[in-house]
Amino acid sequence: MTARHDARRDWSRIRSVGVGRNTIGAMADLPQTDSGIPIKKLYDHDDLAGWDPTEKLGAPGEEPYTRGVYSSMYTGRLWTMRQYSGFGNAEATNERFKFLLDAGQTGLSCAFDLPTQMGYDSDHGRAEGEVGKVGVAIDSMEDMRLLLADLPLDKVSTSMTINSTAAILLLMYELVAEENGVSSDQISGTIQNDLLKEYIARGTYIFPPRPSMRIITDIFGYCAEHVPSWNTISISGYHIREAGSTAVQEIAFTLANAIAYVQAAVDAGLDVDDFAPRLSFFWNGHNNFFEEIAKFRASRRMWHTIMTERFDAQNPKSKMLRFHTQTGGSTLTAQQPKNNIMRVTLQALAAVMGGTQSLHTNGFDEALSLPTEDAARMALRTQQVIGYESGVVDTPDPMAGSYLVESLTDEVERLAWEYIETIDEKGGAVAAIEAGYQMDEIMDSAYAYTKSVDDVDRVIVGVNKFTTDDDPEPDVFPIDPTLEPGQVERLKRYKANRDTAGVESALAKVKASAEGTDNLLYSIKDALRADCTLGEISDSLRSVFGQYTP
Ligand code: 3HC
Repeated sequence: MTARHDARRDWSRIRSVGVGRNTIGAMADLPQTDSGIPIKKLYDHDDLAGWDPTEKLGAPGEEPYTRGVYSSMYTGRLWTMRQYSGFGNAEATNERFKFLLDAGQTGLSCAFDLPTQMGYDSDHGRAEGEVGKVGVAIDSMEDMRLLLADLPLDKVSTSMTINSTAAILLLMYELVAEENGVSSDQISGTIQNDLLKEYIARGTYIFPPRPSMRIITDIFGYCAEHVPSWNTISISGYHIREAGSTAVQEIAFTLANAIAYVQAAVDAGLDVDDFAPRLSFFWNGHNNFFEEIAKFRASRRMWHTIMTERFDAQNPKSKMLRFHTQTGGSTLTAQQPKNNIMRVTLQALAAVMGGTQSLHTNGFDEALSLPTEDAARMALRTQQVIGYESGVVDTPDPMAGSYLVESLTDEVERLAWEYIETIDEKGGAVAAIEAGYQMDEIMDSAYAYTKSVDDVDRVIVGVNKFTTDDDPEPDVFPIDPTLEPGQVERLKRYKANRDTAGVESALAKVKASAEGTDNLLYSIKDALRADCTLGEISDSLRSVFGQYTP
């Protein structure tokens, strides 16, 4: 009997790939994926016996989109190389944007500082010490003009990682584009605008869930009418994974959030095919190579099922899950930081093999600071080497038909549906969040992951094994101590040169809109035209919606 037949005989008793984290018996000794799916010692045609590729896969660009959302995929166009960047003041970030575009990146991605994300101007007491720290400080239309100066807004798409104040930043972007002769139907990009994951994992929420859902659906309605090429939301699993979820939980909780957003928009009277084509997603690129590929593929098939069976979407674009990937920040180590170059490469490769539309690769130094220019360039070069040298882009979905990857795709999907069914039973994502369900599940997974590292069941090279070599500390990104006072001074001058009566009148209209049922974006846009600041507009909304304190 050949070794292969031996192996088949031994494993023929274990057909099911796994039962998730509660793996029992003989399977408990097998290596497991991050989601606890045991990986057998052998996969072969028996694992796909009776498996119908027509039903499960379709062709690339065809329903159920398992193999990718475009028929040509990267043979038609590579993914967008979109490095997340932003720090300091608008000029400093504009300079980094231009550096990355000159280095060959093909999309922009803006990080905002916490005050901007939380609706505070740089001169607010709660902004002290955070101005320009984890992203760029944007208080006013003047800052936005400097941020976007000399950028080809009619040609490059821009992602803005902004949630509670997404409407304000989107309108600032639209107004600056208009000032530069670029009309609203010419601009393209994405706002993250995903508050549910903020309640679950990230925390940059301002308003309670229900008013947040209203602002989100107002953005859907406004963009459907005025900014047709703008992706109105980036429904994010990235931060859920960063908080410690498994791969299965990452897509399950995110898709449950997506269901809630679509339902809220439909309940608000929007036609699903009017806004769904501009929904987008955001996944984490984590370490377990084959599970990550399976996760990306399963998520597309699940979204197709959701939009077809739950919402009866008719437009094929409403059923396509288009996504951005960021390699996993939480996998970066401060120890032996150059090891992160290899981690990021594997994570980026999995995202490409899984069919990502847009990709950010982390700098190797980001466990220590914001990325230096060298680290950011090296991260971009990683994408370029994969895209131009590896050959993995030469045909769509190269892993299709793999005994392992198709078995894993099916199992990740099966386990994710179980979570979605549980959330449905709890009344949907918002109710489940209010009951703390997702956070509890993530906490359990995070504990299990951390324990596995502490017990050295899971090896992290340089951290709990192979720890001898001590890399010299790399150069880290310098923080400019003059930044905060400079930004506050600029804001002071801006506020001193406005029509105060006009500002007060415009802010009162924002408040009135919030108290009513009108689409909020119109009054916010007028307030921006009247030189109101992001913090002032946020305060007008806070005065009506309140501040969420769970
Ligand atoms: N064949 C035919 N057409 C193709 C094609 C192909 N093979 N490939 C692309 N295209 C077309 C597309 O149809 C599209 O045209 P359209 O806009 O007219 O439909 C155009 O080319 C651009 O392609 P994509 O839309 O696929 O790519 P984009 O890069 O423009 O958009 C996205 C990708 C995922 C849909 C979008 O939402 C996006 O860019 N998201 C990025 C989100 C992001 O960067 N987030 C960062 C967050 S950072 C964070 O939160 C972490 C922090 O908190 C730590």
